[in-house]
Amino acid sequence: MSIRQKLGAALYDAIMKRPEQAGLQRWRRDLLKQATGTVLEIGVGTGANIANYPPEVERLVAVEPNPQMARRIDVDEFGGAGGVEIVEAYAGDLPVDDASVDIVVATLVLCSVPDSAQALAEIRRVLTDEGRFLFLEHVAAEDDKTRTWQDRIDPLWNWCTGDCHMNRRTEAAIRDAGFEFEWIEREPMPKTPSLLRPAIRGSAVVAS
Ligand SMILES: C[S@@+](CC[C@H](N)C(=O)[O-])C[C@H]1O[C@@H](n2cnc3c(N)ncnc32)[C@H](O)[C@@H]1O
Repeated sequence: MSIRQKLGAALYDAIMKRPEQAGLQRWRRDLLKQATGTVLEIGVGTGANIANYPPEVERLVAVEPNPQMARRIDVDEFGGAGGVEIVEAYAGDLPVDDASVDIVVATLVLCSVPDSAQALAEIRRVLTDEGRFLFLEHVAAEDDKTRTWQDRIDPLWNWCTGDCHMNRRTEAAIRDAGFEFEWIEREPMPKTPSLLRPAIRGSAVVAS
């Protein structure tokens, strides 16, 4: 693990405090109202979603490759009915059987995985036929000017953070992976630097 990833883990909650208080926690809560049954969350980080799971969630498998992030998770905050299992693994190679999960959750993660198409293929593989993918991601801007700046700054940003990209076309990637959207909101993330502000959140199912 790089020193940047260690530092990022130590600072993550403090850096996110303003956006969380300004609306991100509300977005998380609203998104997770759809969670039920067996849930797999990828890149769970420090557990910013944990308290927002509803009682309908029977079990949470929380995947996180960075132990410095995972050790900050407070499983006692879990809002679901069952237990939380924290698993050290990567989104591109999920240690979960095919069609075994009702809901997959990814929040602010598809910006960080090395290959989002591979991660989305894994998400699709582990979901049951009626399964749902709940996502909340910061993404490439729709307007050309902001996106050009994102493309310019991204190599430096990615070096500083150790994994994050600010210019991912995540909406198109989800569709290209064979999903269709049940709903999607495109709204700027509150109290966030302008190049990281464009965001999408919603629910997707395997396209019929
Ligand atoms: C910006 S943080 C988001 C954490 C949390 N999901 C949230 O909403 O606050 C990105 C997370 O993705 C994790 N991550 C990076 N690469 C990953 C990968 N290949 N597979 C799964 N998680 C990954 C990082 O370790 C980090 O915890």
